[in-house]
Parts: sequence; structure tokens; C-alpha cells
Amino acid sequence: MSKVVLCYSGGLDTTVCIPLLKERYGFREVITVTVNVGQPEEELKRAEERGKKYADKHYTVDAVDEFVNMIFMLIKANGDYEGYVLGTALARPLIARKVAEIAVKENADAVAHGATGKGNDQLRFDNIFFEYGFKVIAPMRELNLTREWEIEYAMKNGIDIPVTKDKPWSIDENLWSRSVEGGELENPSTVPPEEIYEWTMRKAEEDEIIKIDFEKGIPAALNDERMNGKELIQELNRIGGEHGIGRTDMMEDRVLGLKARENYEHPAATILITAHRDLEKLVLSRRELKFKRFVEEEWAELVYYGLVNDPLFDALNAFIDKTQERVSGWVKLKLGNNYVMPVARDSEYSLYREELVSFDSLGIDQSLAEGFSVFHGLQGRIFRKMMK
Ligand code: ARG
Repeated sequence: MSKVVLCYSGGLDTTVCIPLLKERYGFREVITVTVNVGQPEEELKRAEERGKKYADKHYTVDAVDEFVNMIFMLIKANGDYEGYVLGTALARPLIARKVAEIAVKENADAVAHGATGKGNDQLRFDNIFFEYGFKVIAPMRELNLTREWEIEYAMKNGIDIPVTKDKPWSIDENLWSRSVEGGELENPSTVPPEEIYEWTMRKAEEDEIIKIDFEKGIPAALNDERMNGKELIQELNRIGGEHGIGRTDMMEDRVLGLKARENYEHPAATILITAHRDLEKLVLSRRELKFKRFVEEEWAELVYYGLVNDPLFDALNAFIDKTQERVSGWVKLKLGNNYVMPVARDSEYSLYREELVSFDSLGIDQSLAEGFSVFHGLQGRIFRKMMK
């Protein structure tokens, strides 16, 4: 074995993997790859510095635009798994693809990642790496290392340690969401300390109303200013965060069946999906909305499970894209103290007809409803009478 390409975040686990891959697995060359999916600048810089310092070769790959396109698909699908907005889940297969492409180019013998054997990320990474035919090394899963051992091993190998004892959080952050796990959060009956939050700190003193334009299900403008996806999401994370919007503290069912306590921050995700759902209710038919809910549930599960290479995913996306052809228009939302709510909406494809529904007009002869009403509920009435 000579060459391995490592999925690299710059944190303790993946950094410890570098000497481990040499010592324990006998690789002669370790190449680190960090994929930019919108994590903070400092984190990317740190990963690049540490990769260059500790590995034999380092790559940073920019995948932000591709990630934004995946987020657009997620918005069209109102992506939600048990209340989780799927930020990490959506990014993993994209990261894996970018790493695999480098491994192909480098003619590597294997790829490696730092995921443990308890979570979902291992499944999401492995599935894509196996698709490329790579052997996968996951030291954290295979070697059962404790944090203390890792810290000691890092020090022995001249690696400086980015975590401190009083901040034991495992954080995964990208453009769409920030997840915090570990430490005392692992006890679901403990209220999290405020310090775990970074995106949702309420500063705004007054409610505000914002306007979002959608084109075929994709957010295109904020307050009548056209923006690309990255800018729009960053801006909504900022504005929404100031109202304390988009915090989730939840129990989650992992793919393996383990229940986990999860804490998330995701202001833009909450705002955009709230707006998108509202616009869909204006333009999609009752039947479309009902059927789409099942499709969304399946869609979210495929993403959560890391099964986005399943042909079903393409088929669901084709259905969703078809429905989105008419999801164009705007929604106004009120951002209040820890909440967001739609307060106005309009679309050229609206199925709403004021003249039909209004109390003040005679657009339709309402006396016709009398006949409809005679048949409505007929079976229930027969049943009740029969049972008396
Ligand atoms: N529970 C979430 C998921 O499965 C978030 C995982 C976050 N990963 C992490 N290494 N902190 O997608």
C-alpha cells in the first residue's frame, strides 16, 4: 500500500488519522482533501494550513456552487427528516465525490475518512467511495480510540490540538446548517448551555417583514434585490439569526437505529422552507400537495440515509421539478421573536380566485352546494343510523 487520500476537516480526529494511516496501515503517502461546502473561512484556512503541515500533499476543493444547487433541490423538496434540515446529510455525498475524484487523479490505493462507527456519516461517505470502487479506511471506526488517547497521540506526533477540555463539542457547519453534538448534550435531559449557539443569537428589537421571490421553486431575490444562492442563504442566516429563528433541539433516529440528541442552527433553512411551502399552497392543487408530501418524506429519507445515488432519487427529483414549474411568485414573511410566519403571497400561477371564495361577491351560485352537501358524509350517516 502506498497512497491514501483522506477526507480532511482539520479537526483532531482527521488530523490524528494522518500519522495513523502511516503507522498502523503502512501507507507511505497521505494526501488530505478539504471540500468547501460553505464552512467558515477560518475553518477552511485552518484545514489548509494543517493539511499542508502534517500531510504529504493537500487539496482544497471549492464545491460551494454545487452545494447550493443541491440546497435548491432540497428547498423544492421542503427537505426535512424528523425536523432536521439535512445540512450535514446533504453535504456528505458531495464531499465524498470530490475526494474520490482526487483519489482517481492521484491513482490512490485507498480513501479514508474520520467518521465513527456510530453515526450516519460513515454510511454516506462509504456508499460513494464504494461506487468508485475504492477500499475505505475509517480509523475512528476500526480502532476504537478514545479522545484522551487521540490527544496524547497527537502530542507525541507533534500535532497541536485544536480542542480544549471545556469545549468538548463536535461541530459540523456548512452553508445550510450548523450541528452541535457531544459533551453534556449527549444527555437529553440536560438543557444546553447558551454557548453552543453561534448562528441564532437574538439581537433584533423589532419584528420585520421580508420578501422572498421564487422562480420555479428556487429563491431568487430578497426584498426585491436579486441574489445568487450563496449570498441569499448567508444573508438569511444573518437576518434570521438576529431574530433567533432556526434553532432545533431534538431526538433523532439514526440510520443504524440509535437515537441521538441533536442540536441544530439553521435560520435561512427555516425561513426559506416556510416561504416555499406557503407559495406551494397557493399554486399547487390539493392533490399535488397531498401526493408531494409522500414524495418529500421519501426524498428526505434518501438524503438522510446517504442514498442519493439510488435511481429512485432521480425519479423523485423529476416529479418534484415538474411540480415546481409553477412555483414562481413571492412571499412576505414576518420575522419575530424566535419565529417566522408567512403574512402575504402572490403568483401568476395562483389557483386562488377571490371572486369565487369571497363573502362579498356572487362569483358562483352558492345554492348549488346544497345538492353536493346532501351526498357529502352520506356513508357516515347511514352507519350511525344502522348502529343505533
Ligand atoms: N445528525 C446529523 C446527521 O446525521 C448531524 C451529524 C453531524 N456530524 C458531526 N460529525 N457532527 O446528518
